Amino acid sequence: MARTSPLMNIMQQAVRKASRRLVRDFGEVENLQVSRKGPGDFVTNADIRTDEKLREALLQSRPQIGFMTEEGEDVVGEDASRRWIIDPIDGTTNFMHGIPMFAISVALEEAGEITAGIVYAPISDEMFWAEKGQGAYLNDRRLRVAARRDMGDTVIGTGIPHLGRASNPDYLAEMNAIAAECAGIRRMGSAALDLAYVAAGRFDGFWETGLRPWDIAAGILLAREAGAMVTRTDGGGDPLFKGDILAANEAIHGRMLRLIRHARRPA
Ligand code: IPD
Ligand code: CA
Repeated sequence: MARTSPLMNIMQQAVRKASRRLVRDFGEVENLQVSRKGPGDFVTNADIRTDEKLREALLQSRPQIGFMTEEGEDVVGEDASRRWIIDPIDGTTNFMHGIPMFAISVALEEAGEITAGIVYAPISDEMFWAEKGQGAYLNDRRLRVAARRDMGDTVIGTGIPHLGRASNPDYLAEMNAIAAECAGIRRMGSAALDLAYVAAGRFDGFWETGLRPWDIAAGILLAREAGAMVTRTDGGGDPLFKGDILAANEAIHGRMLRLIRHARRPA
């Protein structure tokens, strides 16, 4: 049975509380699909509301910790060495289209290091969580990355550049190279969940560029605590602020890195 620390309890309670209204909002969004205007404003409000609810709950229990969130200004807390990094809805486009693959992502950064993280998928009620040095879990179950070593057996997650996201001129070459060697590529629409899926061994690997810290802060810890290698797509150190990420078990990480490098090589 997984043992949650007092801090993790606070985080999980905050996320569950914020998710209740979000689940109701999602039901409403499904109804709005048929309206001409679509659910755009409604979704923006759901996003902001979730952000507010998370902040409120976290501030109540840990008033000294600051925030970096997708929806608001950064807030430096009384304890400037710690902040929550929050994405209230990762997978907003899915949410807006009534597709149930979205998640709340909350991470705690302490002295520049992510020490706790949650990716919660409210529709499937899957709570992925990790604390540094304590392993990664899905609800009560300990997670391990997939052990597959043969690229031909792997399912790889990715994010395809789209409107409003910096385009990556190398992307199609990278995708071609990886698609040619793996059993399947998935574009799920939530980088936070993609990394949680790597942690759970559902995806054998994941790569994407152009991400923001709140998309991946909790997911990086989850994947690492489950045994994944997590680097930038050039193999370099910390992907958090570069927004450029490659996660997989060691063997698959090495192969994907070579494929990406080769695809990027100037002709
Ligand atoms: C997006 C998701 C998506 C990724 C995008 C992100 P959002 O976050 O993580 O998978 O491909 O680049 O911006 O906008 O849904 O919070
Ligand atoms: Ca996001």
